[in-house]
Amino acid sequence: MRTQVVIIGSGPSGLLLGQLLHNAGIDTIILEQKSKDYVLGRIRAGVLEQGAVALIEEAGAGVRMRHEGLVHDGIEIEFGGERHRIDFKALTGKTVTVYGQTEVTHDLMDVREACGAPTVYEALDVSIHDVESNHPKVRWTKSGQPYEIECDFVAGCDGFHGVSRQTFPADKLHTFERVYPFGWLGVLVDKPPVSDELIYVNHERGFALCSMRSTTRSRYYLQCRLDEHVEEWSDDRFWEELLLRLDSQVAARLQTGPSIEKSIAPLRSFVAEPMRRGRLFLAGDAAHIVPPTGAKGLNLAASDIAYLSRALIGFYKSSSTAGLDSYSQTALARIWKAERFSWWMTQALHTFPESSGFDRKIQKAELEYLFNSRAAQTALAENYVGLPY
Ligand code: APR
Ligand code: PHB
Repeated sequence: MRTQVVIIGSGPSGLLLGQLLHNAGIDTIILEQKSKDYVLGRIRAGVLEQGAVALIEEAGAGVRMRHEGLVHDGIEIEFGGERHRIDFKALTGKTVTVYGQTEVTHDLMDVREACGAPTVYEALDVSIHDVESNHPKVRWTKSGQPYEIECDFVAGCDGFHGVSRQTFPADKLHTFERVYPFGWLGVLVDKPPVSDELIYVNHERGFALCSMRSTTRSRYYLQCRLDEHVEEWSDDRFWEELLLRLDSQVAARLQTGPSIEKSIAPLRSFVAEPMRRGRLFLAGDAAHIVPPTGAKGLNLAASDIAYLSRALIGFYKSSSTAGLDSYSQTALARIWKAERFSWWMTQALHTFPESSGFDRKIQKAELEYLFNSRAAQTALAENYVGLPY
């Protein structure tokens, strides 16, 4: 077997790359260790920068997003019981689109199936070989049978726990990490959201976020301890705690109901450098993780894929290796800015268990400055709607 690009992982990174390459006439195969239903069952964030929206449209997967995506002109940030609006449209001329990552994945899978490009689900024991040569090979097993494929390039789009990053020799990879001392407990509910826009809440009991998937489906989060288990959180307990963290106006609008999904996610910042080894390229969560506070995870995957797809298309169309050679450096420059922003949003909005009186005063000063300075609001807005790529 032979193809041009083997893509490992059928999350948003792998699917987007597969479609952009297919549209340019480049053959790919996607190897995914889970089943299609499992991949589609994962609930993740749902805020898209304009760059990500444009890329999904370029991939030919934008029809439903255009109809069902909710365009948001700003967000609200609540502190000390008062809400302050950050008007992205007025400050930057840009907006974001609320459309769930699960839906993005679904739409990309549909267009891939429609064009007949191959995806192998439940591909186990994926291993990557000879990436320092011009003919890398990827092996896997499916239903107990071994397979091997030769290719020109391997795209490691297999997320934080994938095999691609682990293929780098330890002395060729530098990693940078911050683990935060709390998690997010998330609930999905079929009730209209409390507001037309997202509300990020800094409360002394802990951070809270009121988000949404549509005009009838809401997503709420509570900052929780890392040693808590989801079973300890009945729906009633979740709603009671959320009400304590919201101001009275928002609390009065909250429509509660039975949760249709409930999970706890830890918060982490992580970057691996470089993102290339020979003919293996990392993209998305395989190379970096952001805490969810700025909703940057999927958007960073999109900018990696924009750079990587252009680089691969440049190689096949004009025999140029320039894009491939600069990929890691170009992608990392944008990644670190999103890492900084996600870290900043996280430290500004959460209650840190070990923070001193000094830390809390600094956090208060930071937010008061933000609410009173157009320059500070513009900085937040510019980063939230996404830096250019
Ligand atoms: N072999 C094959 N597939 C694998 C392997 C492996 N060894 N390891 C992981 N995978 C698959 C996972 O099952 C998953 O479907 O790779 C896929 C990676 O997808 P994501 O984790 O969604 O990562 P990515 O596509 O980079 O998307 C980034 O997803 O995790 C969120 O917050 C993140 O929004 C961001 C986006
Ligand atoms: C979500 O809707 O899941 C969401 C929105 C914004 C964030 C994080 C998560 O910052």
